[in-house]
Amino acid sequence: MNNLKLDISKVFSFVPESVINAAEPRVKEQLKKLYNKSGEGNDFLGWLNLPSAFPVDLVTDIEKTSEKLRKSIDVLVVVGIGGSYLGAKAIIDALSNNFVWMQQKTGNPQIVFAGQNIGEDYLTELLAILEHKNYGIAVISKSGTTTEPALAFRILKNHLESKVGKATAKDRIIAITDESKGALRKMATNEGYKTFVIPDDAGGRFSVLTPVGLLPIAVAGFNIREFIAGAVAMEKGTSPDVAFLKNPAAIYAATRDALYHKGKKIEILANFNNKLLYFSEWWKQLYGESEGKDGKGIFPASVNFTADLHSMGQYIQEGERLIFETVISVENADSKLVIPSDKDDFDQLNYISSKRVDAVNKMAELGTMLAHVDGGVPNIRIVIDKISEYNLGQLVYFFEIACGISGYLLNVNPFNQPGVEAYKKNMFALLEKPGFEEDTKKIKSRI
Ligand code: PA5
Repeated sequence: MNNLKLDISKVFSFVPESVINAAEPRVKEQLKKLYNKSGEGNDFLGWLNLPSAFPVDLVTDIEKTSEKLRKSIDVLVVVGIGGSYLGAKAIIDALSNNFVWMQQKTGNPQIVFAGQNIGEDYLTELLAILEHKNYGIAVISKSGTTTEPALAFRILKNHLESKVGKATAKDRIIAITDESKGALRKMATNEGYKTFVIPDDAGGRFSVLTPVGLLPIAVAGFNIREFIAGAVAMEKGTSPDVAFLKNPAAIYAATRDALYHKGKKIEILANFNNKLLYFSEWWKQLYGESEGKDGKGIFPASVNFTADLHSMGQYIQEGERLIFETVISVENADSKLVIPSDKDDFDQLNYISSKRVDAVNKMAELGTMLAHVDGGVPNIRIVIDKISEYNLGQLVYFFEIACGISGYLLNVNPFNQPGVEAYKKNMFALLEKPGFEEDTKKIKSRI
């Protein structure tokens, strides 16, 4: 059952409901384009029906591999960047205890990430910790040639092999990559690593519901069947045969599009639950890489409330009026903590004693929404009843399909990312990579 609720009523004072409803034919057309694969980037639509068509034997294989790994390691280092990193990080963080890194024994391996930066300190400090841990590596790269993960993997593989020997290291390394192409596939075949395939037609940022996300999530001890089931429910709830007004992704895409054309060029994804911090990072990649091209696109930003109300809150309330806000609202906290009464009441908090902390958070959320709307910031609210595998699966698919529709509404190809090549070319030229000799000459003349 699809139980995500979308509330766009706090947008109507900026864009009338009639304008959003009038987008129905245009939105339906884009959704149809996704389904009949007639739009740009149509060779990257593998994610569209992936949840409902997910091969059962692949789920079983991921679960079995994870179980085996969980028995032999205390730490899994997930090596990847962009879409090969953010989805797993987002879901694992959302489902984990806030202080999991401080706990001695959780019964689950700790999941840490590498290859998402080129930090010498980061890798050195990680190796120092890993020296005293039983660890394994999941190396994830669709292309198999991305510099950051390749570099980190070279160092980590070398460390693991020296620590436990080549044979044991081989059993603790999983490679997730293209079925046949790329350096990682070649290396995995050569070394005899257990591998999983990233489907050809699923781009990195749309790959959390493939082994890219599922393997690390399963090793962390979470239920990937529930995660997929949530996505299946959302796939059904957003398909072309669902009425426009009942399709939350269609309404979300129509609303964003209407706001963009009203001059609201920045969308801030806000949460009032610290566990969703990386969910916003995943969302930023999804929308930033999909829409930001051809001189167009809503700039995706994020804030974590209430912390950022004491920093970015000022700008949101009174800065340039080009912002709208999308809040992921979680109805129920997992735990229950009641505010105690205090006989001195120096902090003057007795007026909320006996209330739950979450009740205060909810009033902060409501108060913020009303203040921001008063300050000229339209508000979209996405409500889930709690943070769970199922609800995160729904959210992931909701944002993915809405992103596809949004990209087509904007008339861009939402499934490519030509812009990410520019820095790579310069970096290779500066590093004097063979094959880049001409670029090296040119770039050196500029510095
Ligand atoms: O969305 C994308 O395709 C990119 O952000 C990639 O995920 C990222 O560049 C990592 O690529 P790869 O998995 O090929 O190493």
